[in-house]
Amino acid sequence: MSASRGEFSSRFGFIMAAAGSAVGLGNIWGFPTQTASNGGAAFVLAYLVLAFCLAYPALMAELVVGRYGQANAVASLKKVSNHRWQHPLAFIVGFGGIICAGLILSFYAIVAGWMISFTAEPVAQLAGQNEAANWLTSQSLSRNLLFAGGFILLTVMIISKGVENGIEKWSKRLMPALLAILFALIAYVMSQDGATQGLKNYLLPDFSALFEPALLVSALGQAFFSLSLGTSVMIIYGSYISKSENLVTLGASVTLIDVFIAFVAGLLIIPAMYVAQAQGVEIFDASGKLLSEDTLVFQVLPALFDSMGSAGLYVGFAFFALMSIAALTSSISMLEAPVSYTVEKFGLNRRPATWVIGVLICLVSFTIIFNFEQLFGFVIALTTRFGQPLLGLMCCVFVGWIWHRASLLKEIQSGCPEAANSWFWKIWPWYIKFVCPICISLVFINSLR
Ligand code: PHE
Repeated sequence: MSASRGEFSSRFGFIMAAAGSAVGLGNIWGFPTQTASNGGAAFVLAYLVLAFCLAYPALMAELVVGRYGQANAVASLKKVSNHRWQHPLAFIVGFGGIICAGLILSFYAIVAGWMISFTAEPVAQLAGQNEAANWLTSQSLSRNLLFAGGFILLTVMIISKGVENGIEKWSKRLMPALLAILFALIAYVMSQDGATQGLKNYLLPDFSALFEPALLVSALGQAFFSLSLGTSVMIIYGSYISKSENLVTLGASVTLIDVFIAFVAGLLIIPAMYVAQAQGVEIFDASGKLLSEDTLVFQVLPALFDSMGSAGLYVGFAFFALMSIAALTSSISMLEAPVSYTVEKFGLNRRPATWVIGVLICLVSFTIIFNFEQLFGFVIALTTRFGQPLLGLMCCVFVGWIWHRASLLKEIQSGCPEAANSWFWKIWPWYIKFVCPICISLVFINSLR
């Protein structure tokens, strides 16, 4: 059965693919920016606690549904249901997640397109093409359309190759490359003036800020976005894991890698901001607040790279290449959610299904670009503030309230017999039933205010 629908061929392959989905612009751009605008280390601490205590259990819920169902998100959720009346609900949650993934891809591709054009800019400069370099960093319509479209095309090409030769093969190559570039950049930034002050801000928390509702809301939203929850993505990735694999350690590894990379990205970006500040780039206002969140990556960092002289061209290239790679391993997971559904539901071949959906998402993305002021922020808020928490919550409800506890535990224990004797997995179904939905609802209600 699984041979025809594809399966990850190795544990390493799955971890790279799922961690690739999790690690993206959310970690390397979103997390450091949020940290900087939410008072530094206190946010880091809240994020760590929420990622492990709420997002990890929710991630396990999605993975275990997928592995049990061995099918796309809608079919897997239906399989977990006990009564026919629950099927429409399964459809709403699964299909809602698929739409959410598609919408996220449509704005993600725009930002990823900026990353790619900023990667190309130093190359144009080195080739003496100054006009092209200016165009690459302009906010022009033509540049945005070309690069967002190009990014979606790249995603389509990888996904049309399937699980093992597409997703797994490319994630295994791209993720280690990403780590290597990240560490090289940290080593560079640490050797510069101002870096130590950045480190202090990043690592020494102001405990009084820790319980501010706004900080907790941002930290949980960030954790959900970062672990790709509420988008059907982890359900479908879970469905490609074989029954003999240990789901518990796989989920834990993905969470650890995701949190680790966000943490390491902060180690790069926060000190880099202080280094840039020491070099005269304006980053904070007089009260110490971040001047502009959006400009952090696209203006502040290029300014920092410029100040490095000709070496800056190479550093800039490496940094934006890193961002583009991270974005690509995430975008392939977003496209896989609708593609796997279409292939299994309508019996289409993977290649045509991928192209059709790719074109649809491209059209949505172009619509956003043409109506940027009205739509860009709106789609981001719709998906990340509403869609993801609500759908993630519904997934917990399915696992905690609808699925039979015995069958759920059996699925967890498949490939991980020791879970049968662990207190953690005895508590977990209760946790998913009560604690996760209540906490997610609280944060959600808070975010509406
Ligand atoms: N987790 C990805 C990131 O941090 C974004 C993502 C969201 C990927 C939803 C898939 C689904 O950038």
